[in-house]
Amino acid sequence: MNFIDETWIGWLDQLAEQDYVVVDDFISNEFFNRIMAFFSEAEENDKLKKAGIGAQQDFQLKAEVRGDFIYWLDEERDQELSFFFDLKDELVQNLKRFCYLSLSGSEFHIAKYPVGTHYHRHLDQFNEQSNRQITVLIYLNKDWKPGDGGELVIYKEGREIMVEPIAGRLLLFKSDTIEHEVLTTHIPRYSLTGWLLHQPAGVGFLLS
Ligand code: OGA
Ligand code: NI
Repeated sequence: MNFIDETWIGWLDQLAEQDYVVVDDFISNEFFNRIMAFFSEAEENDKLKKAGIGAQQDFQLKAEVRGDFIYWLDEERDQELSFFFDLKDELVQNLKRFCYLSLSGSEFHIAKYPVGTHYHRHLDQFNEQSNRQITVLIYLNKDWKPGDGGELVIYKEGREIMVEPIAGRLLLFKSDTIEHEVLTTHIPRYSLTGWLLHQPAGVGFLLS
């Protein structure tokens, strides 16, 4: 266990009230270094791919919407990140206990936004069958400072809430209600991003 119940309750209360919560120093320096070592290895071995790349003619269009490069994680394969998957399990357990969410499964990727890229305003549920319930972001930009760009903007009730992508910061929000945007970044911007998935009521039926 990384955090005590009272700490989780404080964070999850905010999530329940505002549909989002920002938590600083969610990961330690040591964990940060381990993720960045994993990131470097992935970059050196050309594992990061243009997000959503499809047919050649789609490329231009998609680059206008989102400019990030991603690598999907696999809990079995990526044992170096076991500490992260433990943290994720702790988060899921607490969301089930304190928010009564019915969650089953998750999907995570590391993401790099090269200089000059952004992600247009969007919701993380792209289509009706999307079962993304909670968006999880861990930011990994050590020396981020005002002017570096790449802020995450949350659009909520006519307001724009800016979240700076600083190292060690966790952002959680409800995937089905929070519209958000990544502003153009002026430095290479790193994050670990994922979604906790809703357990569909008829899962047995759908799978059979
Ligand atoms: C996404 C997204 C936000 C961020 O990947 O869907 O909105 O801050 N990312 O990286
Ligand atoms: Ni998003």
